[in-house]
Amino acid sequence: MGNLVVISEGRIKLKVPDPSKYLRLDGIYEPAWAPVFYNPQMTMNRDISVIALVTIFKSAPSRSSPIVLDALAGTGVRAIRYCVEVPATSLCLANDVDPRAVKLIEENSVLNNVQDRVRVFHEDANILMYKLKKERQKVDFIDVDPFGSPAPYVRASLWCVRRGGVVAYTATDTAPLSGSRWRAGSRKYDVSIIKTDIGHEVGLRVLIGYIARRAAEIDRYVAPLLSYFDRYYYRVFVRVAKGAGKANNMIRQDIGYLKYCPNCGYRSLIREIDNLTCPNCGGRLHLIGPMWVSSLADNVFVSDMLSNLESRQYHYLQTARNARKLLQVLLHEVDLPLVYNIVKLSQMLKVDMPKRDDLIKCLRELGYKAVKTHLHGGLIRTNAGVKDITYCLRSLTSLRN
Ligand SMILES: C[S@@+](CC[C@H](N)C(=O)[O-])C[C@H]1O[C@@H](n2cnc3c(N)ncnc32)[C@H](O)[C@@H]1O
Repeated sequence: MGNLVVISEGRIKLKVPDPSKYLRLDGIYEPAWAPVFYNPQMTMNRDISVIALVTIFKSAPSRSSPIVLDALAGTGVRAIRYCVEVPATSLCLANDVDPRAVKLIEENSVLNNVQDRVRVFHEDANILMYKLKKERQKVDFIDVDPFGSPAPYVRASLWCVRRGGVVAYTATDTAPLSGSRWRAGSRKYDVSIIKTDIGHEVGLRVLIGYIARRAAEIDRYVAPLLSYFDRYYYRVFVRVAKGAGKANNMIRQDIGYLKYCPNCGYRSLIREIDNLTCPNCGGRLHLIGPMWVSSLADNVFVSDMLSNLESRQYHYLQTARNARKLLQVLLHEVDLPLVYNIVKLSQMLKVDMPKRDDLIKCLRELGYKAVKTHLHGGLIRTNAGVKDITYCLRSLTSLRN
């Protein structure tokens, strides 16, 4: 497998392919070139997952010996971290289709002295998840962290996880999900999608919508606990439960469309398709979806995660500061439906772009809720409509001139 080096992440040590052997011409490490994938840039994703798992297990203490599946494990970093850093975890199943990864997971389990609590599998992730279900193995948490799209693993993971369990998905195919590569997006996620000025909001909603619709096919329903975008990936945690009636309710209440006007910036999340004339400018609205139109996270869960992150026990996390910042912003975003792009709206209206805080203040003075979003510095999340945002943008410009 070539040279290995030992690195530290969280509370564990990890043998990984020597990054200095897989450098691009610009000197940057390219993890996809290494024989077994390990990306240090994903440490925050894994730190947040550790805290999420701590929170999940604390909120369901009745399950005495929770089992975790790392379905696409690479070096085994997640499975081993869950075993070492989430004390409630009784057993981790770590799987990879690549024999070199399997060997490394075994070595890393020994290196961290958790070989008794990590069971290693060499299987296609879908086959393993269907097998575990057939064998009635109860899995409390499944981590799906593939290359690119998680879509191929969604159905099996929803089928495999125990009732009330949680599945976490990473998606690095942000271009299809956000509508930048809309053809790939519609093909992979079975949606009608276009490029908008709020691509990552659309991406998260399309991804959760896809997961929810696959769940409904097998009489399951989902509730998002946490979802966010970070640099080049989406991460979504959903609780999965069983029940045809509740799955029907989910489809009726939580799945819908984004109505979007490229002419004036009007947007609205709808549950049933109605008039496609823009109420703001009279132009033709685009319909994007189906997608998740309800909350992207559970505020109790996010706030519990923040409390757990504050505890001294987790101060060692390398990305604790950034993770805290992200969760704090997310907590304020939870209840607000719509995201607007201030940069694009200001250009459209030919006004100077105001400071984000000034726009938020103006909307609050009009009686709306408005917050910044973690998605991008040029976006706000609010329950105001485009008319009042336009009013604020114009009045802030005239105040300055
Ligand atoms: C993005 S890497 C996983 C990284 C790892 N979770 C981490 O946090 O470092 C994806 C892994 O999935 C494995 N893989 C790809 N297709 C698979 C499949 N069908 N079944 C199981 N593993 C698969 C690859 O060998 C690779 O190790």
